[in-house]
Amino acid sequence: MSITSQSRAKTVLEARAPAFSTQEAEVIARRAFDIQASAQPLDSERDQNFRLRAEDGSEWVLKIANPAENPMLLDMQTQALLHIAQVDPSLRIPRVKATPDGALFHEIDGSNGQRFIVRALSFLPGQLLRNVTLHPALGRDVGAMTARLARSLRGFFHPAARHELLWDLTQAPALRTLTHHIEDQGRRCVVDELLDHFDAEVLPQLRKQRAQVIHNDVSCLNTLVDDQRVTGVIDFGDLIHAPLVCDLAVPIAELMRKHPDPIAAAAEIVAGYHAVTALEDDELRLIFDLVSTRCVIEIVVANWRVCDHPENTDYIMGGVPEAGVQIDQMREWGAEKMYKALRHACATPVSIAVPEFNPSSSNKEDLQSLIERRRQRLGPELELSYDDPVHVVRGEGVWLIDDTGRSLLDAYNNVPSVGHCHPTVVQALAQQAATLNTNTRYIHKSVIEYAERLTATMPGDLSVCMFVCSGSEANDLAWRLAKAHTGNSGGIVMEDAYHGTTDVVYELSPAEYGIDKGRTLAKHISTVPAPDGYRGQFRRDDPQYAERYVACFDDAIASLDVRGFAPAAFYLDLVLCSNGIMIPPPGYLPAAFEKVRAAGGLCVADEVQSGFGRTGDHLWGFEAHGVVPDIVTLGKPIGNGLSMAAVVTTPTIVASLMKETNFFSTTGGNPVSCAVGLAVLDVLEQEGLQERAARVGAMLRSQIQKLAEQHPLIGEVRGAGLFIGVELVRDHSSLEPAAKEAAAVVNRMRELGVLVGIEGPFSNVLKIRPPLVFDENHALQLTDALDQALREN
Ligand SMILES: Cc1ncc(COP(=O)(O)O)c(C=O)c1O
Repeated sequence: MSITSQSRAKTVLEARAPAFSTQEAEVIARRAFDIQASAQPLDSERDQNFRLRAEDGSEWVLKIANPAENPMLLDMQTQALLHIAQVDPSLRIPRVKATPDGALFHEIDGSNGQRFIVRALSFLPGQLLRNVTLHPALGRDVGAMTARLARSLRGFFHPAARHELLWDLTQAPALRTLTHHIEDQGRRCVVDELLDHFDAEVLPQLRKQRAQVIHNDVSCLNTLVDDQRVTGVIDFGDLIHAPLVCDLAVPIAELMRKHPDPIAAAAEIVAGYHAVTALEDDELRLIFDLVSTRCVIEIVVANWRVCDHPENTDYIMGGVPEAGVQIDQMREWGAEKMYKALRHACATPVSIAVPEFNPSSSNKEDLQSLIERRRQRLGPELELSYDDPVHVVRGEGVWLIDDTGRSLLDAYNNVPSVGHCHPTVVQALAQQAATLNTNTRYIHKSVIEYAERLTATMPGDLSVCMFVCSGSEANDLAWRLAKAHTGNSGGIVMEDAYHGTTDVVYELSPAEYGIDKGRTLAKHISTVPAPDGYRGQFRRDDPQYAERYVACFDDAIASLDVRGFAPAAFYLDLVLCSNGIMIPPPGYLPAAFEKVRAAGGLCVADEVQSGFGRTGDHLWGFEAHGVVPDIVTLGKPIGNGLSMAAVVTTPTIVASLMKETNFFSTTGGNPVSCAVGLAVLDVLEQEGLQERAARVGAMLRSQIQKLAEQHPLIGEVRGAGLFIGVELVRDHSSLEPAAKEAAAVVNRMRELGVLVGIEGPFSNVLKIRPPLVFDENHALQLTDALDQALREN
């Protein structure tokens, strides 16, 4: 780097940052990007950034660039973000928001002839790596994220990519002209020595390494994390074309300082990186010098800048002592010690190795052959989602990855509710499977602990768990309990209810009857209409509509009576999924429960779909209604995909069953299931997923509601938390169901890389219920795809 470029770099650092007011930022956001939001200033050294909280719940960052910034560099950042979003949409990076006419930035003329480039990027929630305690899994994740980011940039180039940058390691020797600013003579000698060494010994080796555009600043201030994992990376301001291995210098230099055993911290990061992109031996050997040179750059730049800003000494020089100590320590160790530790870390396999996956180019012939084999051995009637079926090979968080390596945003599967293949759950499963797996007839602590954890979340006398293996089995067992306890044998369910597959539960599931195939309700079953205020027989414009739906229970009970039955149980899926997804109106459930109980029946809350925080405001769907069920059935997300389920009820009800019979499930409640169940509860709590479901769900519903203004096909948006139904109609007065259109939208969204489903008696409701790790960025990707699919419909 030349002296002129240093002064240019200084110009950007020194040029006054833009100074727009908060109100001006709000006006710019509205006029330029159509974002109605309140603005709050964010820290920035050379630009001006505002966090925008939009009325619809979405959050953005308005970035007003320093007028001295090279517009080509801003363009490179924007193009890189767009590139990554396309090649690896599963990476959490800010999304670029275009202006309504499609421009990627907006320009403002300042009063003194300056021009300001303004961009809007999505705001990524999460805490900064700087603020959390480092543990080995997190260090590995930082390495893995650095590698994934670099992987996603492999095919990217931009004419500005070889720009001059103070933080470019390959340009470090040029800093020798600035070291005279270092007052401490001893420190200055060391720095000069290291720069000479870098120039003579390191740079020639570095120039031989593979190079590409890299992020170059995966720092503690730019990395977002939750307790367990890295969740995102921000700030693409230091992008540069440089040797790939340089990308590791920043996270290693910074995390070594946070860790009591710095070499172990470096080894974890390198191991995580190596698991994604294998590091070559030459690269491993270079890491020591790259890290110490990074520290040198920090020291030189700070000493240089502080000369012009003595009033800011504390801020500018804050990190210098630590960087100095780190250099001294590293010189003491020598390169060989660190190289050996890194080499060892790369040679040690991670505890649960995911098999190497080589994406094929989409092979239609292979897919056809698999479909045919499936048809033959699983039966031709077994449904297959989407016109273009998805051949999945791997899952991660909210992503399903297909055989071509494409990441599809999974907004359909509520079973892996803490995210596909969550490492905590996988670890718990593997560890317990490697230790012991038996049944509940032995003493095993985990089943007791798990039952205690589950029942602690339930109100009233719901204090006994019975473990089974599927939601259907749980509902089957609930039926046996209800019959034994009440002495009755009639059932009340919603029209179009679905509660599972066993013979008994099938009778409780009119959605499966195939009434069109001539089947009628079983003699002991009565139905009530779903309390559908949109298209049902009583609607929201009638202030009494909830009461009228409650009154239907009188008819159902009377109808059972005529046939010689009294109700043993009323079953309710709390999100009425098969009815087209809806939340019962206030007051409905307490009154309905009262009627059922007055007729001698029990109330069964089927939480198979709605449980474990999905509805956002509560862990269990029934809690929103102020009722306490007699029996609660749990399944699907309980094991994040492992076959497990549970019935939770009162000791008295269990005693009634045990008086007449026995209960034992061979694999229900086994130690592996309980280890997984406990891990799922841990993750839900630690990652605040219920709160996230409330927050992201509200934002997503509001975004889709906004789409409804442009797309008359959207009749109603409803649901709770991250269980959302979008009913499509051809006409807002007749409510003619738009089933064909719904199928087209779902298939088009699949093509666009977003998976949602279809629900409801008329197959016209879009079903959206992603893993709960879904965040605002994912919500925006979903609404973009939905918008496009609706526009093309
Ligand atoms: C509300 C409800 N209850 C029970 C079940 C049955 O669960 P499983 O398929 O695990 O037997 C389902 C399945 O979709 C369901 O939606």
